[in-house]
Amino acid sequence: MMERSAPLSDDLSRPGDGRAAFEFLDDLLHSEIDARLIALGIRYGWFGPQQAEPRAFEQLSPNARRLAATRLAALGLWTAERPGVAGPRLPAFAALRELIEARLWFLLEIAPDFSSFFELFLGDGGPLVQRAKLFRLFDYSAALQDDVDAQHRTSRWLRYTTLLTEFEGPDIAPRLGIEGVARLVDAGGNSGAFGLALLQHYPALSVEVFDLPAVCALGRKYVEGKPESRRMMFTAGDLRASRIPAADAVCFKSVLHDWPPDMALMFITKAADSMPSGGRLFIVEREAPDFPPGPSQEKPGFSQLANFAFLPFYRAAEAYVLLLEEAGLRTRRVERFALDGPFFLIEAEKT
Ligand SMILES: C[S@@+](CC[C@H](N)C(=O)[O-])C[C@H]1O[C@@H](n2cnc3c(N)ncnc32)[C@H](O)[C@@H]1O
Repeated sequence: MMERSAPLSDDLSRPGDGRAAFEFLDDLLHSEIDARLIALGIRYGWFGPQQAEPRAFEQLSPNARRLAATRLAALGLWTAERPGVAGPRLPAFAALRELIEARLWFLLEIAPDFSSFFELFLGDGGPLVQRAKLFRLFDYSAALQDDVDAQHRTSRWLRYTTLLTEFEGPDIAPRLGIEGVARLVDAGGNSGAFGLALLQHYPALSVEVFDLPAVCALGRKYVEGKPESRRMMFTAGDLRASRIPAADAVCFKSVLHDWPPDMALMFITKAADSMPSGGRLFIVEREAPDFPPGPSQEKPGFSQLANFAFLPFYRAAEAYVLLLEEAGLRTRRVERFALDGPFFLIEAEKT
């Protein structure tokens, strides 16, 4: 996975600092033209000493060469003296390369949805789910099996969620405040990336990832060999049909927004049933982005499509608090914070 010890430029003074990484990413991919030039450069090996196809740059038209060189230099990825191998932000770029590639993949895949269905993003999401490619990318139904084909179809979106979580996890884990908790089930815990962040932060904790079969199969491979994985297990199941394994705490991170309120309530109720009284339930979700007015850099850019894409599905924290109450849980706190957009964490307790 990502080499975090690579030297970083001033843009990223603290390796592993999720917020700084996402700011770097947003800045780099703010304009669609820049993002597409970077994608092209990655494809042709323009960044870094091993240029796969260095001639590809020379084959651009003179106007395109000038444009590409100007924009890439403005982004700190290029210098006229040593094109393709020097630039003040190349070290940070190299350190975040997997995250940048994953975000580019997602943005370029969903960009046509915005041209074709922009108004559907402003509705309740129903017709959008039927028509947009976005929802074929995240095809959870393929993960109900765990054969090679199911794993292959699941691996592409799983790589994206995993990379995001690698950067979100270290920031979110301490916010749970679960010192003293022995067993936590991460429901919809994906590849185990968030579980690893929890295990790194809480040395006495064990984490059970509960997710669909292909996701668990890929997750086991992802955590294999990592020291924390000795305190992690994967249980394959379907939240709609299975019980949630017994635990002292259950976490739903970026899971419940995928489901209508009645299903979210059913999952929360199952989580409550799996815990003893005093058990703690955590919900971590993104809040709807509001793109406050500001200087041009703060205007929503191409990179923001990644969060704008889910506009119909964000709920306010208060909506989850009501569901928790309906399930008989007492909300202890709601904490708001920002990574590549606004998030909240809700902690509730089974009384
Ligand atoms: C948006 S991802 C979030 C993953 C992870 N918690 C994170 O924050 O990166 C939603 C997760 O819910 C899982 N999921 C979807 N439907 C499920 C179901 N019916 N039962 C169990 N897990 C499910 C997906 O496989 C996926 O890992």
